[in-house]
Amino acid sequence: MARVLLFTFLILTFFASCIISQNPPVNLPLAIRSPYFNCWGDATAPGQNWPFLWNSNHLGLYGSIRVDGIAYKWVGGDSPGLNLTSRVDLQITPTRTMYTLQAGPSMLINVTFMTPIETEDLVTQSIPFSYIYLDAMSTDGQPHDVQVYLDITGEWVTGNRSEIITWKGTKSATSTFYETWLSTQTQYEEKNDQIEDATAYIAMRSGPTVTATVAGLFDNRGGFSDKGVLPDPDTDTSRAVSDNWPVFAVAADLGRISQTSQSVVWAVGVARNPVIAYTTGTGAVQNRAPYFMVQYPNIESAIDAFLLDSDDARQRSIALDAKIAGDTAAISPVYTGLVSLAARQVIGSTDLTIANGTDGKWNMSDVKMFMKDVGSSGRINPVETLYASLPYFLYVNASYIGYLLEPLLEFQNSSQYTQPYAATDLGTSYPKAVGSNQPHAQGIEQTGNMLIMALAHAQSSGDGSLISRYYDLLSSWAKYLVNTVPNASQQVTADLESMTNMSNLLIKGIIAIQAMSTIAGSLDRGDDASTFSNSAQSLLNTWVTSGVSPDGSHVLATYGDQNSWALPYNLFADKLLQTNLVNITFYTSEAAFLKTFLASSSSPETPFGIPIDSSVTSQADAGWSVFTAAITPDTAVRDTLIQPVYSAIASNQSTLTYSKIYKLDSGESVSGRSSPALGAILAPLALNLSIKTISVPPPPPLPPKRSIAGPVVGGVLGGLGLLALGFAGFFYWRYRQRRKYRFSGKLDIDEAGSPGHATIYGLPPGSDPGAFPVSPESPDDRGSRELLMASNTPMVVSVVRPSKHQEAAQQRERYMLPPGSAPSPPTSSNSGHSTDPGSSVEPPTTVSPTSGSEVQGLRVEVENLRKAMQQIQVAPPEYSQ
Ligand SMILES: *[C@@H]1O[C@H](CO)[C@@H](O)[C@H](O)[C@H]1NC(C)=O
Ligand SMILES: *[C@@H]1O[C@H](CO)[C@@H](O)[C@H](O)[C@H]1NC(C)=O
Ligand SMILES: *[C@@H]1O[C@H](CO)[C@@H](O)[C@H](O)[C@H]1NC(C)=O
Ligand SMILES: *[C@@H]1O[C@H](CO)[C@@H](O)[C@H](O)[C@H]1NC(C)=O
Ligand SMILES: *[C@@H]1O[C@H](CO)[C@@H](O)[C@H](O)[C@H]1NC(C)=O
Ligand SMILES: *[C@@H]1O[C@H](CO)[C@@H](O)[C@H](O)[C@H]1NC(C)=O
Ligand SMILES: *[C@@H]1O[C@H](CO)[C@@H](O)[C@H](O)[C@H]1NC(C)=O
Ligand SMILES: *[C@@H]1O[C@H](CO)[C@@H](O)[C@H](O)[C@H]1NC(C)=O
Ligand SMILES: *[C@@H]1O[C@H](CO)[C@@H](O)[C@H](O)[C@H]1NC(C)=O
Ligand SMILES: *[C@@H]1O[C@H](CO)[C@@H](O)[C@H](O)[C@H]1NC(C)=O
Repeated sequence: MARVLLFTFLILTFFASCIISQNPPVNLPLAIRSPYFNCWGDATAPGQNWPFLWNSNHLGLYGSIRVDGIAYKWVGGDSPGLNLTSRVDLQITPTRTMYTLQAGPSMLINVTFMTPIETEDLVTQSIPFSYIYLDAMSTDGQPHDVQVYLDITGEWVTGNRSEIITWKGTKSATSTFYETWLSTQTQYEEKNDQIEDATAYIAMRSGPTVTATVAGLFDNRGGFSDKGVLPDPDTDTSRAVSDNWPVFAVAADLGRISQTSQSVVWAVGVARNPVIAYTTGTGAVQNRAPYFMVQYPNIESAIDAFLLDSDDARQRSIALDAKIAGDTAAISPVYTGLVSLAARQVIGSTDLTIANGTDGKWNMSDVKMFMKDVGSSGRINPVETLYASLPYFLYVNASYIGYLLEPLLEFQNSSQYTQPYAATDLGTSYPKAVGSNQPHAQGIEQTGNMLIMALAHAQSSGDGSLISRYYDLLSSWAKYLVNTVPNASQQVTADLESMTNMSNLLIKGIIAIQAMSTIAGSLDRGDDASTFSNSAQSLLNTWVTSGVSPDGSHVLATYGDQNSWALPYNLFADKLLQTNLVNITFYTSEAAFLKTFLASSSSPETPFGIPIDSSVTSQADAGWSVFTAAITPDTAVRDTLIQPVYSAIASNQSTLTYSKIYKLDSGESVSGRSSPALGAILAPLALNLSIKTISVPPPPPLPPKRSIAGPVVGGVLGGLGLLALGFAGFFYWRYRQRRKYRFSGKLDIDEAGSPGHATIYGLPPGSDPGAFPVSPESPDDRGSRELLMASNTPMVVSVVRPSKHQEAAQQRERYMLPPGSAPSPPTSSNSGHSTDPGSSVEPPTTVSPTSGSEVQGLRVEVENLRKAMQQIQVAPPEYSQ
């Protein structure tokens, strides 16, 4: 009933396209700005179930509004006895989750959880905070006494609720905030997917009625709901997260109002410094800082700036949401909803970083971005996931792709890397970017991904510096593909399939070779351009004869296996890069095939789409489904591919965060919860972006020459100087290593700055402790999962990505077919495909239940296409853009 009402509200009250117009999913993004600041909430009852990390760890976030002496909760978990707000409306845009809630009989509030996605400014993108705005208006025309309250617990800074936290409050002219961190931090160590070196913050602009404190959960949160004021801070200065759960609260007394004149704004954040341990090309470990530090040297100044920016930030978000809504509306309302739901988790799986140069100053030409394989493995800069998320970054700002590729390229261009193909990632454990020189069997997949991304970055940003600096590495990879694609018998895909000559994999390799040709052409290397283009063309000829069904209607799963089929999602790159290898008419025939196939497979067993190929039976890949949708010229087929991805996310059974891989029969998550791979959903938008002329910025000018001897001497001296600086840097690093890992802005502040210091507004101690027997979750509930995930298993060579998670193992079971095993049909409805290799195959068009003339039309088309496919052409290599 409630759902029906909500649905009605959704329909009635929305700004046409920038919101979810179907049933919303159970869980919604609230604040997602990094792998460790990744907070989700229950859409159906914002005040009833605790918000949680993507993996379901609870995160204490509790908010209430007190109207005429009675408190109503608007976010948080179960707290018996307290009045709840009731949901009147819900709107979701790519950056905002907005609730309209009734707080008692006379007050309506809007609560907006906003996760900024910054398209232009690396500083604002990298500030690890999120906004919560609250607007209130009375519904009876009368003014009322209003106080508002929000708190966080120590759950934000550790995966082990028995660990001890410390805290501190601060009040400056601009900001009032509390921060908490583990008393004993372990740098770069995860527990239960949370990090043991973070500091959590709750902040608000300072004001005469703005107060902050630390109180115990069992002390009824300091009695705020009874008294409307915060007590003096707790006398403890540290204790375990779950020991009478210390809560850090920021409240404001709005006085007697009938409407808020401006939004009440909290900032909540999880900050770290350094954020990444990066092994450079020389093998040195470099601690990298969050990018915003180039502008704000400490966290206090970043908090001030973030709070002062709250109005402008909201305007930027509204503008971005409107732009996305406009672009997605051209496709469908369902698509708008899908993008609105999934956008935040993509960039929210990353950290944007900067490091100091040899001169001890921020090196502005050394920006690097790191991505965690959230929801699947915890790997760092997982290449196939970067590739899936590519459309998102192309749409938001292609420069981010360069920052993501740079550390991968730098490591693999160094002597530390000895494989002839591209690596799968920078290591298995975020946030340690140790690099990986492991041999593996995904050579075509990952090498293809890297070449395609490198060209996509250059074409979309116009910046040719990356492809220019790493030209030799990229061309060595293209040569590897030229040698490997012709007989791909030991290859594994990123989906962990391992059959010989997989058509959809090989076309990726071929497109990547052509991409190298384009790269060479754009850098005026005409010989390489034509060599690679010729290779691509010759491999394409084989692909067309072996990788496509004889009738030209669809891509096969493996060369020559007429009983198989595959979602040709790697053709997305052919469109994106405009390599135009595959004849445009093929897309039409593939769309016709998919149309028939989807019609015949929309059985009750598969309401959630289709698998990636005929060897998979039970699960679908959200990203690859939308890649395929993006390239289909038939909009009905496109929409039929997109709808199930939305349905899976919104299904009641998908009570988890939005997943990359889900079960076909239920929509239930299989793996990749909150994965950045869902950036793939922007694939249709990425194809509308224009390709820029690639230019290579000139190298920095060399110092003027004075004499023949000068440069030589200077070079030697310069070298010695660099060496000395290198040593100095090393010792400085060692020095820093011994210090605490709290946010660097705090490094120099003595721990004696205890709570209750003059910086905090304290109120008379509450005398009414009150009974409040609420325990969000016992630590025991969380221990078992950690054991599962804390494996230090050494990386195993070959097909299987190292995984910490059960779900990855599950995925492996499903995908790993013994080489040569016959693929099985995806569903019983796949009756048009015989599994007996000896029997002849009826084209699926003949089993279509649709009208005879349509079938006849398709037959004719298919026959034409069979002829057409025999001469699928290559566009002449393009050297200029
Ligand atoms: C809940 O609200 C009602 C009035 O609507 C009030 O009588 C009651 O005391 C409130 N409960 C609490 C725990 O504040
Ligand atoms: C993309 O981001 C870069 C910063 O990395 C910025 O200089 C550039 O202006 C942005 N591009 C657009 C189109 O906003
Ligand atoms: C709350 O949100 C609703 C729906 O978007 C809007 O109509 C209303 O003006 C908002 N109220 C305030 C006080 O911002
Ligand atoms: C959690 O922390 C407590 C207190 O430090 C410790 O005794 C316990 O072993 C930890 N549990 C795990 C699973 O690490
Ligand atoms: C800054 O970074 C660039 C790129 O990594 C590097 O080439 C340059 O030497 C660095 N500059 C300094 C001063 O360390
Ligand atoms: C990096 O350089 C900045 C600006 O020169 C300086 O404030 C900061 O302390 C340096 N950081 C480190 C880790 O050396
Ligand atoms: C890549 O490696 C080659 C060979 O060692 C070197 O000449 C080149 O400068 C490197 N490029 C970058 C960007 O480090
Ligand atoms: C793979 O395909 C090639 C044609 O490109 C063929 O020559 C080769 O025999 C195939 N490999 C196997 C093991 O079937
Ligand atoms: C293809 O690879 C398989 C297995 O590595 C090998 O046995 C076969 O001879 C190769 N075929 C060609 C044409 O190179
Ligand atoms: C694509 O195939 C069609 C049908 O055979 C053919 O007419 C057309 O010329 C081909 N396109 C190109 C660009 O060669």
